[in-house]
Amino acid sequence: MPNIVVVGTQWGDEGKGKVVDILTPHVNVVARFAGGNNAGHTVVVGREKYVLHTVPSGILHPGCRSVIGCGVVVDPGSLIEEMESLVQRGVTLDHLFISKNAHLIMPYHPALDRASEAKLGKRRIGTTGKGVGPAYVDKAARVGIRMADLLNEALFREKLELNVAQKNRLLREIYDAQTFSVEEILNQYLRYAGWLAPYITDTALLLSRWIDSGYSVLFEGAQATMLDIDHGTYPYITSSSTTAGGASTGTGVPPTRIHGVLGVSKAYTTRVGGGPFPSEMSGPLAEAIRARGHEYGATTGRPRRCGWFDAVIGRYAARINGLDTVALTKLDVLDQCESLKVCVGYRYRGEILTEFPEDENVVAAAEPVYEESEGWRAPTAGAKNEADLPAKARRYLERLEELIGVPFCLISTGAQRDETILCEDSPLLRWYPSVRSSLV
Ligand code: GDP
Ligand code: IMO
Ligand code: MG
Repeated sequence: MPNIVVVGTQWGDEGKGKVVDILTPHVNVVARFAGGNNAGHTVVVGREKYVLHTVPSGILHPGCRSVIGCGVVVDPGSLIEEMESLVQRGVTLDHLFISKNAHLIMPYHPALDRASEAKLGKRRIGTTGKGVGPAYVDKAARVGIRMADLLNEALFREKLELNVAQKNRLLREIYDAQTFSVEEILNQYLRYAGWLAPYITDTALLLSRWIDSGYSVLFEGAQATMLDIDHGTYPYITSSSTTAGGASTGTGVPPTRIHGVLGVSKAYTTRVGGGPFPSEMSGPLAEAIRARGHEYGATTGRPRRCGWFDAVIGRYAARINGLDTVALTKLDVLDQCESLKVCVGYRYRGEILTEFPEDENVVAAAEPVYEESEGWRAPTAGAKNEADLPAKARRYLERLEELIGVPFCLISTGAQRDETILCEDSPLLRWYPSVRSSLV
């Protein structure tokens, strides 16, 4: 049974939640491998809308196992709130498993996140303020506290005392910010431990045994390629390995047991927070796309910056992740555009670059080179197959496929599950033959 990774190819919010939800009936396990509650993955089921932050999107399918892998950072208060709200809505958590090795977001992490952003001034990243970056700092600095530590009070206290002493000094002396009390955090986190204990386990071992027994795993990426700590637009990135390689380190499933990678792209581009965005739109056009696509952050509610499809980034994401196929979302949002642009290269000092430049100064100064085409100006929502789409929309899709060099497997024309077109001749049908009957 295939084990497939789903990753965002742009700057996040591509519709990964919807794509994972569509594929979940064809797998046995969905595993998150990166990020934390900075993610906001939306799944729309009829009139119900779910926004998942730390819990994998597979949770909405009762037969599926959901794993929060070791590469995720967990804010236990926020996770418990999310779990309680799911239970209230009738979702079962019987098959939720949390890695013992996942690091905890502690109360001082959001405080450090905010304080650090305030000090950065115009170079601020525009983080979600959830403390995700500082939690990964502690992980790399080898002073982090992990889920397993919650289950050992003496060890938890020892690690907490060390951290609170260090962080309070930092908060007081460098950031002039509020400090924390060991006893308050201890009491609060021991309560969380009681709640979460039944879910904390060795998820790498479970995944290995499940794969041995023929289960199929879908790895749910959070954030996206251009926010990856190594391959994204550093320093305007998140702090984890959000690209396909992260699926392995972030769950303990070796690369030899992963069989393919599916990228999720919007038919245009959005970005939340600071940092370069070569194909960014401005003025009324950006506002129109934002309004039609409801482009407001699922986690923070911030307006998302909007831009044209960037094929340079698409090709880069294909290379970095080894994409086998791409699910293209939000085609319907472009339905009313008179004309459409696609960024096919960057102009930099008189040269045209077609490979994404890894130098941040080049990206910041890059000017987009556009190819323009006429819009189709007709509704695409509800189309059942590619032949139902307007000819100009089909040409737009063919051109994007050609530019990024990867075949599309799904075209999404609305937030609902059934607003999805299955493309012929894509690896998806090889991985999940039953997807055909579930989507028609
Ligand atoms: P994720 O973080 O990648 O899971 O994406 P988000 O949930 O943050 O943002 C995607 C938004 O677009 C959500 O509100 C989805 O319900 C919505 N969405 C997904 N696919 C489509 C689509 O094809 N058309 C439209 N109009 N909305 C979509
Ligand atoms: P999903 O999984 C879009 C962005 C933030 C900021 C940068 C760093 O829903 O696609 P962080 O809080 O991670 O330190 O912020 O990363 N960011 C996201 N943007 N979608 C996300 O997740 C994001 N998670 C983080 O806006 O620019
Ligand atoms: Mg999102």
